[in-house]
Amino acid sequence: MSKSFFIQTFGCQMNEHDSEIMAGMLIDKGYVPASDRKDANIVLFNTCSIRDNADKRFFGTLGQLKKKKMAEGENFTVCVTGCMMQQQHVIDTLKQKYPWVDVIIGTHNIHELPDLLDNLYKEKKKQLSVWPEGGDIVEGLPSKRLFKHKAYVNITFGCNNFCTYCIVPYTRGRERSRRPEDIIKEICCLAQDGVKEVMLLGQNVNSYRGEGADKVWDFSDLIRAVNDIEGIERIRFMTSHPKDLSDKLIDCFRDCSKLCHYFHLPVQSGSSEVLKRMNRRYDRERYLELVRKLREVDPDMAISTDIIVGFPGETEEQFEDTLELCREVGYDSAFTFLYSIRKGTPAEKFDDQVPEAIKHERFNRLCDEINSTSAVKNAAYVGRVLDVLCDGPSKRNSRSLSGRTDTFKLVNFKGDPALAGEIVKVRITSSNTFSLEGELV
Ligand code: SAH
Ligand code: SF4
Ligand code: F3S
Repeated sequence: MSKSFFIQTFGCQMNEHDSEIMAGMLIDKGYVPASDRKDANIVLFNTCSIRDNADKRFFGTLGQLKKKKMAEGENFTVCVTGCMMQQQHVIDTLKQKYPWVDVIIGTHNIHELPDLLDNLYKEKKKQLSVWPEGGDIVEGLPSKRLFKHKAYVNITFGCNNFCTYCIVPYTRGRERSRRPEDIIKEICCLAQDGVKEVMLLGQNVNSYRGEGADKVWDFSDLIRAVNDIEGIERIRFMTSHPKDLSDKLIDCFRDCSKLCHYFHLPVQSGSSEVLKRMNRRYDRERYLELVRKLREVDPDMAISTDIIVGFPGETEEQFEDTLELCREVGYDSAFTFLYSIRKGTPAEKFDDQVPEAIKHERFNRLCDEINSTSAVKNAAYVGRVLDVLCDGPSKRNSRSLSGRTDTFKLVNFKGDPALAGEIVKVRITSSNTFSLEGELV
């Protein structure tokens, strides 16, 4: 009988897509996906180490499997991968406190998963394979997509920016770009397979530099080429670093009809002083200028961001600069984070850490500001008729459908579940802070 597997993913889209690839490889080898963790013979955790609570959640969830592993032994396999596995202190903890884990794989070699499982079963020996650095980019891996009509596509791996708070450059290695021909070929195949929306992925997509047969392609060259692929109707990307956001990319929003008018532009802080200590390499003015340029192309361009509160040394005044910047930009939404010390990053050593109580108090004020703006932005959609790419039954309420507008607004509406994957017209009837309600036209 085939073994069944269940993958639990923590972290960002990069990890979600790695999980899709690992699922694709396992299915190709004859393993079958289980719909619930309880029923699986193999459980794989794909971990994230961006903040301390991500670490804690992983160890908490892993601990829940100990009893089952002890009872079932060889008949139950536990694998772990993802960013946490690139940190030696995590590997040490696993060896000491969770010695029953069967397979440990790093972020650079997930393609080895099927072979490591084979070895585990043949040799009856635990498997550990973590490469310190990424090697050549492995092309042609399969992928088991969550949705039939939309797909993640990696364009770069790793990050060279070394923001002083961030662990990613250490867990994902130096930045590498895929060759443009490989990306285009993959997207053509996806389009033939019914994919209408692609999300181009990288820690900093703006710094994409792909060695093409004829020239070096930058990110805007890539967008223009994807825009020409028949069958693809929407192009999104994640994430952009403000320091590398070029006018050439902004022009793509004028010229490329498939490029969605939604821009996720992480600001992190509204204080130029704090940005400097974060090593972000732009200041408040430069950021606001970029927002102005984007809104010049389209005044309705939806803009979202990431913000960290309580970075070491952040004063009340500097925090108020962030609040003020949020008012000025008018974000459609924002991911807000409490600064979390990461082992091995420069900011770990900064001696003016902000007390937890102050961090929390600032965090709450920031959320109030962001949420009230989101609600106002969403209310402005009421009465409009919009194209919505239907994802199928809503996660929250299975009697309703949900989908996304071009500007990435989540819309709930009633209709036939067979509309999943179709772009439909929806009239917006009411709005909430995080979503819109509508009816099919
Ligand atoms: N490459 C992307 C972001 C990747 S991490 C970019 O540069 O925008 C996603 C977000 O997590 C970051 O934008 C940042 O806001 C947050 N983050 C990263 N490290 C953090 C830390 N140590 N504490 C709190 N938030 C952090
Ligand atoms: Fe981290 Fe900065 Fe790289 Fe983003 S750009 S992944 S925040 S180091
Ligand atoms: Fe987390 Fe790694 Fe992504 S640290 S946010 S899973 S790149």
